Amino acid sequence: MMKPVLIVTKRLILRTVTMEDTDTVASSWKLDEGPIPLQEAKKKITWMLANHEQNVSGRLVHLCLAIIHKHTREFIGWCGLDHLDQRKVNPVLFYLIKMRYWGKGLATEAAKAVVDYAFNKLDLAGIDGAASYENIASKRVMEKIGMRYQGLDDEGGHFFTLNKDEYDF
Ligand SMILES: CC(C)(COP(=O)(O)OP(=O)(O)OC[C@H]1O[C@@H](n2cnc3c(N)ncnc32)[C@H](O)[C@@H]1OP(=O)(O)O)[C@@H](O)C(=O)NCCC(=O)NCCS
Repeated sequence: MMKPVLIVTKRLILRTVTMEDTDTVASSWKLDEGPIPLQEAKKKITWMLANHEQNVSGRLVHLCLAIIHKHTREFIGWCGLDHLDQRKVNPVLFYLIKMRYWGKGLATEAAKAVVDYAFNKLDLAGIDGAASYENIASKRVMEKIGMRYQGLDDEGGHFFTLNKDEYDF
């Protein structure tokens, strides 16, 4: 069972949420799309915690971290690793940021921290990343954090991978 995760970067705090965060999760779960009901937020938190309970070193199920702006303490996004589909070789990196924070390098900062954490602390062998064909910003984030471009996947999206043994610590 994994302990709560807390990662601090230059401008961000990335952390697992608890039931104490219900109000904030309700207001920020869908970021710019508006709030969800408190009851639904509680279900999301229960889901995140249950997934996180199953994470063990070397084998991850799902890790979802709130991206919190260090100075304002605002919840500005979500990031993490998704391996709910265990038929996939590697967990898949994800990140989402509120629109007014785009273009400041914050997704790159969060994604880099997740990759560092995945290889250093979780001891994962590899991470994949996928961006839909037109999602240039997401593709660019993966390039900037040093993921290796694999070309287009079956759905026509950009596919990236990175193995621990090729990661530049
Ligand atoms: C993808 C996303 C997380 C990027 O967040 P961000 O904080 O703006 O990202 P960063 O600032 O770290 O980097 C974005 C890069 O893409 C570039 N970029 C953005 N839009 C671009 C475009 N239309 N054409 C070319 N480059 C573009 C930026 O210039 C920057 O690259 P640079 O530093 O070399 O200039 C954000 O757009 C988002 O939340 N989108 C919706 C959710 C999503 O698609 N998530 C990814 C899939 S899980």
